[in-house]
This record gives sequence, C-alpha cells and structure tokens, in this order.
Amino acid sequence: MQISKDYELKELNTFGISAKAKFFTVLENEADIIELLSNSEFKNNQKLFLGGGSNILFTKDFDGIVILNKLKGIEILEEDEDIVFLKSMGGVIWHDLVTFTVDRNYWGIENLSLVPGTVGATPIQNIGAYGVEIKDTLDSVEAYEIETGKKKIFSRDECRLGYRDSVFKNELKGKYFVSAIFLKLHKDAQPNISYRVLKDYIEENKIEIKNSKDVADAVANIRRSKLPDPKELGNAGSFFKNTFVNVEQKEKLLAIYPEMPNFSEQNEKGENVIKIPSAWLIEQCGFKGLREGNVGSHTNQALVIVNYGGATGAEVKDFVYKIIQAVKDKFGIALESEVNMI
Ligand code: EPU
Repeated sequence: MQISKDYELKELNTFGISAKAKFFTVLENEADIIELLSNSEFKNNQKLFLGGGSNILFTKDFDGIVILNKLKGIEILEEDEDIVFLKSMGGVIWHDLVTFTVDRNYWGIENLSLVPGTVGATPIQNIGAYGVEIKDTLDSVEAYEIETGKKKIFSRDECRLGYRDSVFKNELKGKYFVSAIFLKLHKDAQPNISYRVLKDYIEENKIEIKNSKDVADAVANIRRSKLPDPKELGNAGSFFKNTFVNVEQKEKLLAIYPEMPNFSEQNEKGENVIKIPSAWLIEQCGFKGLREGNVGSHTNQALVIVNYGGATGAEVKDFVYKIIQAVKDKFGIALESEVNMI
C-alpha cells in the first residue's frame, strides 16, 4: 500500500471536477485494509472512501486522505435449485456484477442495470431504479470498523435501508468501511416490470422477457436514452432525492397545481406517503435544460446536474443552491441533495 500526496481526483469523480486530495491510497486486498487502518496518515486525517465517484461533488480540495476501493472478486458461496447466495467485493463495478448475474440468468438486480458506481456504495444509499432497490436482494454487508479494525457482518435489518438511506449515512456515518456485500438471488423467473416507464418500453418495443438479461437490456436502453453518459458530460445521476409529502400537503399543492404528478407509496416504516418527482418541481421553476456558465440541469432529466466542461465544484454548488431556493420559494418544499457535497 502506497500513500501519494496532492493527488488529482478529476478522473475519479463522474462530475469530472478537478480537486486534490492531500493524501491518496488504493485498497486492493484485505492486507491493504489491515495496513491502512493502523497507518498514521490514515489515523490522523479526515477520511474519504471512494468507489466509482458517481455520487460525490468536490466543492474544494480534500484536506485529508482519499481511499480508493479496488477490492475485486465475485464468488458464489452457496446455491440450490432456487437461490444463489453470492459475495461481491466492494470495489467491483456495480454494472459488472449485474452482468455477472444476468449472464447466468439469476434474477434480482437486473432492474439496477447501468447504475453507476461500485458495489461497496450500494447499501450505503440503498441504490434503486425502475421499481427495485438493493434492499430487495441484499442479505448482509461486510464492513470494517475504522476505529478498531474489527470486521463485522451487518444483517439487512441492521443496515436499516430506506429510500436512498441506511444506517451508514446516519448513526454509523464515517464509522465503518464497507468491504463486501452478500446477495440472495433467484434462479426462477421473477421479472419486476411494473414500473411505468419500463412497462411501457417493453410493450411498445414488443419485447418478450425470457430471461433476466432481457430486463437488464431494456433498463439499459431507457437509461441511455435519458441519462447523460458521464464520459461525455460530467454528472452524478440524480442530484436530488425525490420529495415525499403527506396527503394533506398533496391536496394543498394539487389545489394550486392540478397537473402535479404524484405517486402513493409505502415507506420503510409502512406509512403511506406521496412521492412527488423532484424533477417536476425543478422543471416548474424553469431550470430544466437551463445552462449557466459551465453548469446546467440536463435537457432530458431536470434532476441531473451536468458539468459542460471545466466547471468548478463551487460553481456546481452555487447552481444547486439556486435550484433549492427556487423550489422552496415556489412550492415551500426543501429539496434534499442525493449527492455527497464535500
Ligand atoms: N419528470 C419531470 N421532469 C423531468 C423528468 C421527470 O417532470 O425532467 C417527472 C415525470 O412526471 C416522470 C417522473 O418525474 O414521470 C419520474 O421520472 P423518472 O422515471 O425519470 O424517475 P425519477 O423519479 O426522476 C428516479 C431515480 C433515478 C432512477 C429513476 C428510474 C431518484 C432520486 N432518482 O428518478 O435514479 O434511475 O427513478 O427508476 O430517486 C440516481 O439516483 O442517480 C438515478 C438516476
């Protein structure tokens, strides 16, 4: 394990923002983890674990140590006629894991095709798309306690997964490093194609769902048509979380905006909540497709903030705060950032 100084992070975040880390190192195996946890540069500095860098905005240089997770390996631990129990190390590219599973026609994470980032980050924010969350197949999480170096297995319940949320973003924030995850996938066909956009795409294109790869391909095609490729246009996917309100708030808003899209859902506590797409709120404030300098809200999806090239993290942050203020002024709703701004 080698520690570099003043390391440029531009290639390591999908926003393509230039920022420097005071210290930088890469984890490639378990021995590196053990060595890292007792290293003085690590112990005495602020720490930032980085996977695919697809959910982060560097607003300035990072005055601490950035640790890039490159722990690789996917292993089938157990299987029977119905279930496959597998372990994936945290540094595996998430989409590579999806490909591994759909190539074998296992069911469970095909709707999460092309979600950017690495496996280690997926339980932290309970990634979700097209009607599925990692919560649905996650069995457990392996993590190291940073303070003591002790390895611990968190059951799915202990992870307390909610909408883009987990215990690792709350009580245990900064206390554990996720090294691997365990998934339980199905061998029998269990397509989940009820998400409206996915259902319409499958019907319109007369796609016959024979195996999990058919779903993964459909999702990938939808994503490619809507979401900008970070290799061409820097971005971190949805910058904001969707908005949840209660029935009373919904009625008040609908009285003023009868065309407002809204979806009834149950949250993780079993409560009825109403989702209002934050993309719609942003669009109503006139930001969709708007560009200011090197930053903008994407033309196809208002939730996605893009770097047209050369934007600084501070510029992106200013634009984001402008959106938050506009939505607050018009709707009285406080948008929450999904992306980690540091
Ligand atoms: N909409 C607008 N304007 C837009 C885009 C969408 O008004 O510019 C409204 C429409 O009413 C549309 C609704 O928003 O029906 C939902 O749009 P979409 O299906 O594109 O999904 P989303 O709620 O905007 C979420 C996730 C995405 C995920 C999609 C598909 C969040 C924060 N985002 O977006 O996740 O791919 O659903 O499941 O929950 C990500 O987290 O980075 C991400 C891309």
